[in-house]
Amino acid sequence: MPLVAPTAPNLAAAAAALEKGLAVAVPTETVYGLAACGLRPEAAARIFEIKNRPTFDPLILHVPAGFDLGRIVRFLSPAAEKLMARFWPGPLTLVLPKTAIVPDLVTSGLDSVAVRCPAHPVMQELLRLVKFPLAAPSANRFGRISPTTAAAVQEELGEAPAFILDGGPCSLGIESSIVDCTVDPPVLLRPGAVTLEELQEIAPVKVPPKSAGRHDEAQKSPGQLLSHYAPRTPLYLSKRPLSLLEEFPDHTAFLFWKEVPTPLPKIFRVLTPSAQPREAAARLFQLMRELDASGAKKILADPIPPEGLGQAILDRLQRASSGEI
Ligand code: TXA
Ligand code: MG
Repeated sequence: MPLVAPTAPNLAAAAAALEKGLAVAVPTETVYGLAACGLRPEAAARIFEIKNRPTFDPLILHVPAGFDLGRIVRFLSPAAEKLMARFWPGPLTLVLPKTAIVPDLVTSGLDSVAVRCPAHPVMQELLRLVKFPLAAPSANRFGRISPTTAAAVQEELGEAPAFILDGGPCSLGIESSIVDCTVDPPVLLRPGAVTLEELQEIAPVKVPPKSAGRHDEAQKSPGQLLSHYAPRTPLYLSKRPLSLLEEFPDHTAFLFWKEVPTPLPKIFRVLTPSAQPREAAARLFQLMRELDASGAKKILADPIPPEGLGQAILDRLQRASSGEI
């Protein structure tokens, strides 16, 4: 069985597997990742193969605290320095100009590389053991819901990784924010666990104008395809608060933000009974998985308050959805 506790011997075995070029599923504070050596194309190729991920979608390199970034990055802007000083280790990924040792497969041929220093102690320990950056996308099959527990990784990837290191449920539950620091001012490419407001306290991070351009060939973050994070059951975003609905059709599963109506529908989950966006983010992907497995024909999600972390939650639900009703 590849699912193991992160004991010292298991971490050593996982590090040895990574040194051999194999893939290992790892916990981070955001979501679980599928890791392999980020400096060897044949190791990174395993990730694309296991996830069934198109090679035009580049990977994030994960580094331990104190890593000599000069190995993989050509230049750090003052904004990048400030963002790193404030948010690393943590859920922030920076896109930076890459050095020649970063394989083209990892960056999909781009001249930049996405770098993140994760806070999860198990991942930090593993990164210190292997001594090379680990390329790691979320540990789901391409286009599917990101896993936030080791069990969800196993459900997604089965026996394909050499190990699945069980670091418990992810505390944040939503992916890192991605900021492009190859441009000045920096640009937010993916809303995530660090909110825009928090980023802007440190650097003048801009949001790109909203466009249908997510499907453009020239899109800046190639993985930001509109259709993503998708459950198998079609999911729709409700325009009106679900608590206002007068009836709840059978065969529909409901994802409530906070308020639940009476009488209750047959199948439902509540994102945050205490109306805390942080709690909602941490539960989002797991509850989507549960509703997806409920046997309902359709999932209907409450409107999400678009402030702070709500932005990232809304972004994931929009990408998971088949539209608004
Ligand atoms: O929280 C996270 O970031 C998780 C954990 C495992 O660290 N990882 C994650 O990786 O979400 P992934 O592969 O699912 O998403 C990475 C995103 C993709 O949308 C990809 O297109 C973008 O980062 N990306 C990677 N390299 C890039 C680059 N050089 N320029 C622009 N976008 C890049
Ligand atoms: Mg992903």
